[in-house]
Amino acid sequence: MKILMVCLGNICRSPLAHGIVEYLATEQGLDWSVDSAGTGNWHVGQAPDPRAIKVARNNGIDISTQRAQHFQPHFFDHYDLIFVMDRQNLQDVLALAESDGQRQKVSLFIENDVVPDPYYDDDLFDPVFSLIYRRSVQIIGQLQQS
Ligand code: 4NP
Repeated sequence: MKILMVCLGNICRSPLAHGIVEYLATEQGLDWSVDSAGTGNWHVGQAPDPRAIKVARNNGIDISTQRAQHFQPHFFDHYDLIFVMDRQNLQDVLALAESDGQRQKVSLFIENDVVPDPYYDDDLFDPVFSLIYRRSVQIIGQLQQS
């Protein structure tokens, strides 16, 4: 299973989702490949935001070695599932899809809801971590059943 997490900058939300799902999958002995990317290219090559690194580290997960990358159309062929954090990400990723098969790989990380962007609000990193963690546990459970 190859999973891609997508947000805007690839320095806050999608690195957390990437790190958490990778951590939980490894813990459960699943041979999954997890990655992340941003619809914007401003932070390409950078490590996650220090606040994201910190909240992950406080919860026992190291995301500091991740590096931001820009979502590319060929990612549709490489990944089995593409999870996006909000509706703008959904619109931006779907705009690059060229077939129903590619579109079907894309879904909101939280069904019918969004992961709020913590970039401009330091106080959101803790609740965003918890939100992503809870949903990651669910996703892993659902994918193991399917
Ligand atoms: P992310 O948060 O999409 O969760 O990585 C953001 C990071 C950077 C910016 C916006 C959102 N930015 O405008 O640089």
